[in-house]
Amino acid sequence: MAYNKHNAFNDLPDLPPTDFVESPEILRHLAKAARHIGELNGLCASLPDTQLLINTIVLQESKDSSAIENIVTTQDELYKAVSEDGTASLAAKEVLNYREALYVGLEKMQAQKNLLLTNTMVEVVQTIKQNKSGIRTTAGTALKNAINGEVIYTPPCCEDVLREKLAALEQFINDPEMSSLDPLVKMAIIHYQFEAIHPFADGNGRTGRIVNALYLVQQELLLQPVLYLSSYIVKYKTEYYQLLRGVTEKNNWHDWIMYILTALIETAQLTTKKIRSMLLLKEEIEKKMKDVLGVSFSYDLLRLMFALPYLKIELLEKKGIAHRQTASTWLKKLADSDIVRPQKMGRTTYYVNWRLMKLLGED
Ligand SMILES: Nc1ncnc2c1ncn2[C@@H]1O[C@H](COP(=O)(O)OP(=O)(O)OP(=O)(O)O)[C@@H](O)[C@H]1O
Ligand SMILES: [Mg+2]
Repeated sequence: MAYNKHNAFNDLPDLPPTDFVESPEILRHLAKAARHIGELNGLCASLPDTQLLINTIVLQESKDSSAIENIVTTQDELYKAVSEDGTASLAAKEVLNYREALYVGLEKMQAQKNLLLTNTMVEVVQTIKQNKSGIRTTAGTALKNAINGEVIYTPPCCEDVLREKLAALEQFINDPEMSSLDPLVKMAIIHYQFEAIHPFADGNGRTGRIVNALYLVQQELLLQPVLYLSSYIVKYKTEYYQLLRGVTEKNNWHDWIMYILTALIETAQLTTKKIRSMLLLKEEIEKKMKDVLGVSFSYDLLRLMFALPYLKIELLEKKGIAHRQTASTWLKKLADSDIVRPQKMGRTTYYVNWRLMKLLGED
């Protein structure tokens, strides 16, 4: 039957795409993407304090991936929320849920022999949404243009069909015998397929983008889920939507794959640059702190400044880094030498690692 965007797309073909061959242009992009991802991965592996800077990248990805859904939070608001329990804005909370979902997914995958299964995807969406939502059981889900309400795409229906299609996708993801395509090309087509199945009532975009990161870890292209792809998608969002449609309506895998490979190239480079800049900044701040604090220099404090750039006295106490009096003396000294900048919010004074905040805001 001819494709009709108003009817549930139960004819969505399983992967791999038939008749698809990697063009010379794709192969050139692939080589470049693989090189830059390799460089990023090597850098991550060599970090002296692995989790510290990686967590920051994961948080940035969480922020941008949520922004695609118009959950927009400022960098400041987000980092205040990370430091403080319970006072986060709704948007900041959603970003933190996204980050949690990524780690939940990673743990689950690793606990299940490194297989990326439907049940992991369900757990990811439940963590994003903080509810018990599962595979769609009823008809009526359609993707609509946010401005004029026009239907753009109607995904398959209902639960049985969705489960079948997910099982086929699961097999494609986990069985290397199914296709000899390069894993980066596979990531692109898996992302399309997941979005086209659209198994959940909401959260499909975010879950699908988490699946991308998990897949690269599964394939050992990345040791850590430092895929910062969403910064590119936010920038070229219209193309993201158009190219997904292009696959459905015109079988245009080529342009979709080129888009994802370009995103990988750009964001791997950007991430490498960000991590290098953060490393340099950490060294620079360490030196300054040693000058200012002398023998009382604390590596834990330096670490905390990078994990939670909005510091406050109570936080140092809570983390067991210093008693109130010492914490207060340290932060004042650091503020006097402009290593941190005090910022009053209501009754609380934050001491902001402003150089880190500035760096995170740069492209
Ligand atoms: N024409 C299309 N065909 C298939 N999938 C699409 C199409 N247009 C958009 N999508 C996908 O659907 C996602 C939106 O679905 P949904 O609202 O369930 O996800 P979300 O995570 O809540 O939102 P968002 O992805 O906007 O953050 C988009 O991010 C995109 O990945
Ligand atoms: Mg949504």
